[in-house]
Amino acid sequence: MIVCVCNNVNVDKVKASIDAGAGTVEAIRESTGAAACCGKCQFKVNRVLQQHAPQANDQDNFMVAQSVSASR
Ligand code: FES
Repeated sequence: MIVCVCNNVNVDKVKASIDAGAGTVEAIRESTGAAACCGKCQFKVNRVLQQHAPQANDQDNFMVAQSVSASR
């Protein structure tokens, strides 16, 4: 399943990034390119992060929510 249409990043690539140590949406962005263009996929990236790495912190969730709100 594609998570980021802009950069053609699928869920397996996001999970691989998390497995390699990415613990924030920003870290996943840097390693995969997901959420690096329009940003509309940030919630999807964050959802995969939460489901695949439940130890992700709440501050990251807050930052994603602020970023998406600001872009609207
Ligand atoms: S859909 Fe991911 S940056 Fe646009």
